Amino acid sequence: MSGVKIVGVGHHAPERIVDNAELETWFETSDEWITSRTGMKRRHWTSENEATSDLALAAARNALAFAKLEPSDIDAYIVATVYPDFLFPATACIVASKLGAVDKAAFDMEIACSGFIYGLTVASSLVRAGVYKRVMLIGAETLSKLVNKDDRGTAILFGDGAGAVILEASEQDSFLASELGSDGSRPELLRVAAGGSRRPLDHLALDERADRIYMEGREVFKFAVTKMIAATDAALAKAGLQKSDVDFLIPHQANKRIIDAAMKYLEIPPERCVVNIQEYGNTSAASIPIALSEAVRAGRVKPGDTVVFVGFGGGLSWGAVVWKWA
Ligand code: COA
Repeated sequence: MSGVKIVGVGHHAPERIVDNAELETWFETSDEWITSRTGMKRRHWTSENEATSDLALAAARNALAFAKLEPSDIDAYIVATVYPDFLFPATACIVASKLGAVDKAAFDMEIACSGFIYGLTVASSLVRAGVYKRVMLIGAETLSKLVNKDDRGTAILFGDGAGAVILEASEQDSFLASELGSDGSRPELLRVAAGGSRRPLDHLALDERADRIYMEGREVFKFAVTKMIAATDAALAKAGLQKSDVDFLIPHQANKRIIDAAMKYLEIPPERCVVNIQEYGNTSAASIPIALSEAVRAGRVKPGDTVVFVGFGGGLSWGAVVWKWA
């Protein structure tokens, strides 16, 4: 077994910014309501011509520049997303080709907002097992295209963006532990009901807006707090570490109140938790790698730091990875 480390980080968000004031013109809501219930102030939304692969490509280029690597240096490309360019082919194939990486392994992963946590576990395992020397993992989403813009309960929450990391084989091992979980018994709590094989798209589905995100907000909120705490605790236990050993927690950015509730239990003070939800909203699989890229580029996360990544989302699904930053 080899070790693995992250040698490159990158992120990208579309130019268009939708702030709470703009949402006030769409339906009955207010900056005060959105800020106090979610912590969100702005989110970036794609234009009509931008797709998930375009955001992924920009984040990938940033990560390659950070690592001073060429696209051909990467052996495998993975994109975690709930809203790929197409049902198939995989968005990762498109990204790798647009980068000019020829004949490389490329595949997508879909586990909703837990995509980066699951992806980091899979990508790290590929490197640690010696299958690949370098793997690029990109979380990329265009959820603004998947929300029902008449539904104030969800339209305010989601944003678009992409974050990328490059994993490389290393003598020292940054991957300390992973804890992943799922419960598919109640998919109706958070899903897009139509457009898959259970209910292919038809006119009725479109009329019902069943092609858009549906969420039971309160139920998801409770689940999120519980699983963020449980996954973090379990991953730390697997790594043989205590809460007090954590230098930075980088959580999925779904709701500031969810993050605050979990931080309180985990006894992690605000300065050790990376939060950028006010700028991006919930970007699903992209939220953790965007936050990581910003924190590393700002010099907040430094070599030697113990970082916990923790996420949760549709599935229901959840997970945490403990990482020693190198
Ligand atoms: N502006 C103003 N009022 C709104 C609103 C908005 N954008 N959205 C909902 N409301 C209203 C509701 O209609 C409801 O009104 P009522 O009491 O007259 O019925 C009231 O606010 C309270 O709704 P509720 O859903 O209980 O609010 P909440 O405090 O639970 O906050 C969420 C709603 C969505 C912000 C919160 O439940 C949440 O964040 N849940 C988790 C979401 C999440 O993390 N999803 C992604 C997981 S990856």
